[in-house]
Amino acid sequence: MSMLRSRIVGVGGYLPERILTNSELAQQVDTNDSWIIERTGIRERHIADPSERTSDLAIRAAERALANAGLSGQNIDLIVLATATPDNTFPATATRVQAAIGMTHGAAFDVQAVCSGFIYALTVADNFIKAGQVKTALVIGAETFSRILDWTDRATCVLFGDGAGAVVLRAEEGQGGNADNGILSTHLHSDGRHYKLLHVDGGPSSTQTVGHLRMEGREVFRHAVVNLAAVVQEALAANDLTATDLDWVVPHQANKRIIEGTARKLGLSLDRVVMSVDRHANTSAASVPLALAEAVGDGRIKAGQLVLLEAMGGGFTWGAALVRF
Ligand code: ACO
Repeated sequence: MSMLRSRIVGVGGYLPERILTNSELAQQVDTNDSWIIERTGIRERHIADPSERTSDLAIRAAERALANAGLSGQNIDLIVLATATPDNTFPATATRVQAAIGMTHGAAFDVQAVCSGFIYALTVADNFIKAGQVKTALVIGAETFSRILDWTDRATCVLFGDGAGAVVLRAEEGQGGNADNGILSTHLHSDGRHYKLLHVDGGPSSTQTVGHLRMEGREVFRHAVVNLAAVVQEALAANDLTATDLDWVVPHQANKRIIEGTARKLGLSLDRVVMSVDRHANTSAASVPLALAEAVGDGRIKAGQLVLLEAMGGGFTWGAALVRF
């Protein structure tokens, strides 16, 4: 039976110029390069210039994704931008991107699901396309987590970086089976009981300050491996596929050990897993589209291949999307 599918027709990423290495961090807090590499796989991260806002990063990534798709802002009907670090409390950061890319019709708004934000945003845009409401969508994950870190807390400040990634979706007719090109299915979950394990201790309605990220690292780690493995299995089962059918997995880049633990649980070989956490650290909602843009850009991910995207973040929220390129 024919149905509308959202095809990924363009990808783009942007990282701020400034690179902060583990050794530089070791001059600010009591840590060292080998501890960070051994526990997380992170070697360096990019940090936005004080003059750069989340929207600036998002605009650069969006422009690259549009160029990659051969489209302009006027060709886009919808922008869904995932961020937990918006420029302002309101309006949505997506509206600044809309103005910057010269899009004067359609709609632009933000979604907030922290590190799972891109999977949430992709799901929202995919549903708009499948419902026939829009033909093209720009989905962006963009963050400046450097602005919400407690730079005196060594347990958290070493883990995160800034960046943005974007994809362009276009409606195409498919047959409805797992051989279609485009997004085959998306799967979202949240469990608000775990709010305290990973949160920011500020906000407009609580403290009227921006606040700082707080995390129970071990607990987050434990939940991440279990939840991510479960949602990947759910996505595969929904499409009558198994892990051996996957060409690539593009996981949220939080920690090399979480990525390896999840792959082990699924029986997935690591040479099919895209990894950028060593150079990007955890860029929250930007991590999946940034890693995806790298792997498409360098030719690892090819047309027709089956790719699984997955992420987990504060809330807790988690999700997966299965895509045939
Ligand atoms: N450098 C040196 N020592 C450190 C550092 C640091 N940067 N940070 C913590 N330590 C110390 C701790 O103080 C502790 O010392 P103690 O034994 O004297 O008390 C020791 O290292 C061990 O600390 P743990 O927190 O138990 O270390 P663990 O092996 O759990 O690793 C880590 C910590 C890396 C945070 C890990 O728990 C983790 O990756 N959790 C997942 C968190 C995550 O990725 N969150 C991102 C958002 S959610 C998501 O995206 C999935």
